[in-house]
This record gives sequence, structure tokens and C-alpha cells, in this order.
Amino acid sequence: MEIKQTRLDELPSWAALKANAAELKGQSLASMFEADASRADEMSVDFGGYHYDFSKQLASPETIKLLIACAREAGIEERIKAMFAGEAINVSEDRSVLHLALRAPKGDEIIVDGVNVVDQVHEVLGRMGDFTDKIRSGEWKGATGKPIRNVVNIGIGGSHLGPEMATIALSHYSDREMKFRFVSNVDGSDFAEKTLDLDPEETLFIIVSKTFVTLETLTNAGTARDWIVDALGEDSVEHHFVAVSTNAEGVAKFGINTDNMFGFWDWVGGRYSMDSSVGLTIMCAIGRENFAEMLAGFNAVDEHLRSAPLEENMPVLMGLIGVWNRNLLNLPTVAILPYVAEMARFPAYLQQLEMESNGKHVMLNGDQVGWDTAAVFWGEPGTNGQHAFYQMIHQGTEIVPTEFIGFCDPIYPLGNHHDLLMANMFAQAEALAFGRDAETLRAAGSPESQISARICLGDRPSTTLLIDGQLTPRALGTLVALYEHRAFTEGVLWGIDSFDQWGVELGKVLAGTLADQLMDADKPDLQHDSSTNSLARRYRASQKRPV
Ligand code: F6P
Repeated sequence: MEIKQTRLDELPSWAALKANAAELKGQSLASMFEADASRADEMSVDFGGYHYDFSKQLASPETIKLLIACAREAGIEERIKAMFAGEAINVSEDRSVLHLALRAPKGDEIIVDGVNVVDQVHEVLGRMGDFTDKIRSGEWKGATGKPIRNVVNIGIGGSHLGPEMATIALSHYSDREMKFRFVSNVDGSDFAEKTLDLDPEETLFIIVSKTFVTLETLTNAGTARDWIVDALGEDSVEHHFVAVSTNAEGVAKFGINTDNMFGFWDWVGGRYSMDSSVGLTIMCAIGRENFAEMLAGFNAVDEHLRSAPLEENMPVLMGLIGVWNRNLLNLPTVAILPYVAEMARFPAYLQQLEMESNGKHVMLNGDQVGWDTAAVFWGEPGTNGQHAFYQMIHQGTEIVPTEFIGFCDPIYPLGNHHDLLMANMFAQAEALAFGRDAETLRAAGSPESQISARICLGDRPSTTLLIDGQLTPRALGTLVALYEHRAFTEGVLWGIDSFDQWGVELGKVLAGTLADQLMDADKPDLQHDSSTNSLARRYRASQKRPV
């Protein structure tokens, strides 16, 4: 497809944005708030019970206007339309990018190669629903006639992080009579530890792999097969394994009946797939109705992305603030700080979403970018992080833009826990923005010898997403979709393909060669650099293999 390829540094508004950044340099957040009483209102947007406050950014309302102008000049509106129309905006793989279709309501129409993919999506959702009903009700039996009580998701990357993150996040909505486990790492400890206390008679493995060739997943799936067959015999496999994949041939070759396979499509990227059949474990945990609620949350954001003016478009604004911090203020990381214990795996989920999508060095036309792309995403839930790494965020030499996420209502209304949790979240953002100067410390009676060590300089930017209600399936879908479209927005400005991931290929190829060489019974011909050769020899020696 014909995609308008623009260079970020040649956009008409880019120079004005750079001038704006230079102008704001040295201005404190305290002075900006003082000068503009309506700053918090001006620099925040609302959508569907989500309040996004970006007034504590090192930016002005003018900055936001210029960022929006840049987004327009970069063609974001056209690219949103192209994505919804199923055009091949994943240029390097010549594919449509249609995770939007995964949550489109029944009756919608998105045509790819003459087929309405929304109908296909709902056909698979129906099969998933019927299957999960059987698992949850106990109608689906293991080989010895016992109902399934344990579901083990085997997959990695997008086939792991979404199912794990969401199942943990929505544990309050899940069937507490059942156990849900997630095996991803090729380290045998992962499989061993996660299955240690499980009874094979009551255990179902869901093997999730878009390609069904991924080394880690196929290795773990093989081990799972042995674990079941050793306990229950060869004929038991069909009762204890189902697959989620786009590769029916691979699934059949592995020995899983393709009647027990749930498909998806090449227009769903792995990191955008938790709302496809890749979310089968999530649906087993929370049930089909709650899964449908989660999809409705995703869909609401899709409709917002498509219809809201850029000035009020929450995911677009989130992406533009990402670009501001990355490219105008040159800040290399982003800390994701959910004040929700259940969202412990959300930062890890976002790492793949942002860093696999936008960690790119060339533009769509193959030219080198001349600016930074994906920031390093990291984080932990509050308040835990406060007692670990926040010291560095408050007083370290590196400025870390932080993203606070909190819900107005708790899942468990225990005593005053939630008030304390929220007080901490608001306090951290306030402390980061406004700091504490020597005068304040002196007035509070601080010994003179401690003043310099206790000063917090402030002007550490943060955003706060304050969400009505509690963490529900719908709220989680909304949140994930906001971040999906935020990554998309950044990618459009950076001029890159946010939907391929060629960078992971080389390591996989080299691992294949090295795996053969490490396992070779004879001395292998090691042709690597001297460091890799020496490490391989040392490892072989440790395994008593010839070196
Ligand atoms: O190696 C990266 C990657 O291809 C991710 O993009 C993907 O989510 C993951 O591996 C797993 O791939 P698959 O679902 O095909 O096993």
C-alpha cells in the first residue's frame, strides 16, 4: 500500500516544537501551575470514566497543540483510517493490522480479501465460549473421567504475557476452584515448578503459539506431553491438550487434534493478541461473559480512536506525550506504576507492546531514522516500588517520566487501605513535580547538615490515569487498548513499522546453531568469535562433552 512517509525532523511543526522545548527549559512546574490556574483542566482529557491528567508534564498547552499539529502532518488521521480499512500498514510483512476486528461487535463488517473477518472472529469466540463452559462446568473430562481443575498456558511473548497479565489482573473474577499456571521459559524449572503440585488427571494444557514453531513453546509442550503420557498413557493426549495457533499443520504434526484447535489470523500480531483465541486461558478463568465485557472495553477505545478529535483523543495524546519525552526532552525510559496490586504484570506486558512494536531503527521506506524510538519501559506496582526504586526517581541524576495508574474504587474495600493507596499515588506525583527546597526543609526544622541531601529538585514529569470504579474486565480491556493505540501513535510519528519484529530473528538463528553445537556428541567445529567459542567450550566441558 501507498503510505505517506514523512520524516519527523522535517515536519513543518517540528521546528516550532523544538523551539517550544527550548523555551520551556528551566521553567519549573511550580511556576507553570502558578501562572495558569486552569492548567490541570486544560492539560487533561476524559473518556468513558478514564481521566488522563498530563498537567504534570514538562510541557505547556502550546506544546500539546504543536504535538497535535505534528501528528496531523505525519498523517495520523489517514493511518488510523488505513488501519480500520484493513490496509497493509504492516509494510515490511505486507499485512493488515486488525486487532480492532477481534473486539468488533457482531454485525460489524471489516473485509479482508473479500471475507468479513468480524464473522470469523465471532465464530471462534463462540467455539471458545462453548469450550470454556465445558471446562468450567466440569463437563470436559480428563482421560480418567475427572473434571479439569488446572489449566496450564504454554506460550511465550505475546502468547504468554497477555494471558498471564490479564488472568492475574482479573483474578477477582476468576473461578477460584481452578488453578491457572503460565509456562513460558525454556528453562526446565519453569515447567517443573508450575506443575509440581498438579494432578495430571485434572490438568489441561493450552499450547499457544501463533507460528507453532517457537523453540520455547514446542520444547515445553513436548515436556508437557511426556508428563501426561507418563502418567495417563498415550491415548490421554486429546483429553489434556488443546492448541491456539494460525498453523493447523504444525498443531496436527505435534499430535493435537485440530478439532481442539482455536485459530486466529496473520493480521493479529502476537503482542496484540490477548483478545483473540490467545486469551483462551483468560476466558477459562473469568468465563465467556466477562471476556465479552473485556472486549467491549477494547472496542470502546477503538471507536474513540476512530472518532474523537485529536485534541481529545486519549491514546493519541498518550502517544504524543511519549514522543515529547523521548525526542524533545531526550528521556530514555518510562516507568509504569499501577497502584493496583493485581496489575503486577502490566509493566512486563507493556514492555513487549512498546519495545517490540517501536524498538526500530529504520523507517517504513528502509531509511535510517534520525531520532530515538522506543523508550525502555519498566515498573512495578505502587506502593511497593516506593520502597525500592523511587529514591532514584526523586533524586537520581536521570529524569524518569512516570505513569501512575489508579482506580477510584478498590477490589477489596478493607478498612482504609484504598484511601491510603490513593493518597500515596497522588503524593508521589506531587512530590515528583514540585519537590522540596532548602527553605521548606529549614522551616520544618531539618538539621543544616542534612539540607542538601534532603532537597528534592522536583520537575520530574508524570501522568496520572485515574479511573472510575474498580478494575473490571471492561476496565482492563480499555486500559490495554489505550496503550496499544498509544504505541501506534508513537510509531506513526517515528515513521516506523510498529507491527514487525525482525530484530528477534538473529538471536533465534544463532541459538539454533549453538544448541546443535552444545549438544553435539563429538567435538564441534566452533566458528564463532573467541568469546562465544570459549563460553561454549567451557559449558561443554561442564557437561563432560569433548572440547
Ligand atoms: O520472538 C518474538 C515473537 O515472535 C513475538 O513477537 C511473539 O509474541 C512470540 O515470539 C511468540 O511467538 P509465537 O506465538 O509464534 O510462538
